[in-house]
Amino acid sequence: MQKTLTITRPDDWHLHLRDGDMLKAVLPETTRDFARAIIMPNLVPPVITGDDATAYRNRINALLPEGSRFTPLMTLYLTETTDPGDVTRAARTGLITALKLYPAGATTNSDSGVRDIDKVMPVLERMAKIGLPLCVHGEVTDPDVDIFDREAVFIERVLQPLQARLPALRIIMEHVTTRDGVDYVNSADNIAATITTHHLIINRNHLLVGGIKPHYYCLPIAKREAHRQALLAAATSGNPKFFLGTDSAPHTDPNKQSACGCAGVFSASNTMACLAHIFEDAGALDKLEAFTSRNGPVFYGLPPNADKITLTRHETPVAFPAKIHTGAGDVTLFDPGFALYWSTI
Ligand code: DOR
Ligand code: ZN
Repeated sequence: MQKTLTITRPDDWHLHLRDGDMLKAVLPETTRDFARAIIMPNLVPPVITGDDATAYRNRINALLPEGSRFTPLMTLYLTETTDPGDVTRAARTGLITALKLYPAGATTNSDSGVRDIDKVMPVLERMAKIGLPLCVHGEVTDPDVDIFDREAVFIERVLQPLQARLPALRIIMEHVTTRDGVDYVNSADNIAATITTHHLIINRNHLLVGGIKPHYYCLPIAKREAHRQALLAAATSGNPKFFLGTDSAPHTDPNKQSACGCAGVFSASNTMACLAHIFEDAGALDKLEAFTSRNGPVFYGLPPNADKITLTRHETPVAFPAKIHTGAGDVTLFDPGFALYWSTI
């Protein structure tokens, strides 16, 4: 049995760090293993302008653990009034790495998102021209569309037409959850996808059978097992179009364990242990580095990290805390439902 695995230090291509007390508590959970992360802009209020991104980046950097070399890769939240000039300036100075498109109402703090894609075409055209990638939350919000179908319908109604209109725009389909999504990404140019740790591990039964599990509720919602299998096959294939974006999204326990609980799974602390486990199970430990550390930088046009990380497989299960304590309240860590034997220390 393989005991250690040394790989290029990973990056997280989709991460929610929040702000204030929550940011302070969750940041070290990411910086321990990851060198860089794409930082989601769905704060309240959202990170919309270059000035907002500068201020948020400063707040993150001010809270970095002593000696950390973590780089937050900032994004702007695309709104119908986003100024292409501001985007261009923020991209040219290296302040931002991408823009994020939230269909209005699709998820947590997405009210300022896009209702009419025509209104953001000037920004998207500019992005295509300057080579700035677009991260997309790929779900329609039409109340007539079943929540389990929202990703597949988004591909048909929004993604395909957008790619036909602007083939040069580089798109990341964030947190892909369906076989339809995997197939689409494989079939089209200039598009890649992130996959979360939790969508590789849970299906909708884990969420709903034997009692509702609020800590498995996230958006896009976990789908049926055949879809999870498609995600696992994509992640463990080494295909450069797929890479890790944890979508680690902390909410306090009272906000999760509620009659109307928030969407989000917090997985920053044990993501690498979970991934090593499932890649090992799939006989694909040799593909872990591609998924966590190689494919993302290639799509984003960035160099891979220079340093390495070593994962160790222990004889007995590794204990992760069930919760982390934050100044905003406790946050429950993702429970993969199996014992974890790998650790990064
Ligand atoms: O589950 C989710 N949580 N999905 C999202 O798209 C947003 C995120 C959050 O911000 O909590
Ligand atoms: Zn997210």
